[in-house]
Amino acid sequence: MPTSDQLHQLAELAAEGIHPDDQMPFGRPWSAVSPAERARSVLQWHWRTLAELKPESWTLGFTVLRNCVVVGTQDLSAVDFGIGRSVHTGSWLGQRFQGQGIGTQMRAAVLEFAFTGLEAVEATTSAFTDNPASQRVSEKLGYLDNGSRRYVVADQPRRERGFLLARERWHCPIEVGIDNLEPCLPMLGARAEQAPEARMTKQ
Ligand SMILES: CC(C)(COP(=O)(O)OP(=O)(O)OC[C@H]1O[C@@H](n2cnc3c(N)ncnc32)[C@H](O)[C@@H]1OP(=O)(O)O)[C@@H](O)C(=O)NCCC(=O)NCCS
Repeated sequence: MPTSDQLHQLAELAAEGIHPDDQMPFGRPWSAVSPAERARSVLQWHWRTLAELKPESWTLGFTVLRNCVVVGTQDLSAVDFGIGRSVHTGSWLGQRFQGQGIGTQMRAAVLEFAFTGLEAVEATTSAFTDNPASQRVSEKLGYLDNGSRRYVVADQPRRERGFLLARERWHCPIEVGIDNLEPCLPMLGARAEQAPEARMTKQ
């Protein structure tokens, strides 16, 4: 998760630009505003996701660093994870860091975190059909096509492609380290808390 300094660097990166003005890769067109508003939106999104985190519904906005430089963000979210064991991902990189293989690595990192660390059974993601980079990342990591739907973004009809990756198909292409996850598992609904009877027996 970003430190305060890293979060401000991320906001500045968003202000520099995430995509050309005539493109919109996001389902909610949050980035189609002035640079200053985009930066504030990044800060508020991260603060909001932290404030609203609970076992039944969470979004983890991981910071992506290359050689200690903040280059983007990769999020992982779930609703009722303890029951469904399904996660969803979303991400962006600063425009000058795109197309260098970082997007593939950061998605692989959170998928490994989900499948191995949290014991997820499936991961989903989606991308508009005019976003070849995002679709290619999903294809490279083994997702299968999960259908498509028409979607209206900023009063424009768009087609969104869904992708699904089942745990059985997951082979992590990079080495991933996961630190200090154990105490966080109950917070993510990833481990059932001990029943009161069990706690009482132990005391
Ligand atoms: C989507 C995103 C996170 C991917 O990260 P990235 O670092 O650019 O992706 P990578 O370099 O790891 O991989 C991109 C792949 O797409 C391919 N690709 C990129 N543009 C392409 C194009 N126009 N046509 C075909 N393939 C293309 C690349 O060749 C690469 O595949 P390869 O490794 O087989 O050669 C990044 O581009 C980004 O932040 N885009 C803007 C925001 C965004 O779209 N977010 C996702 C919303 S769903």
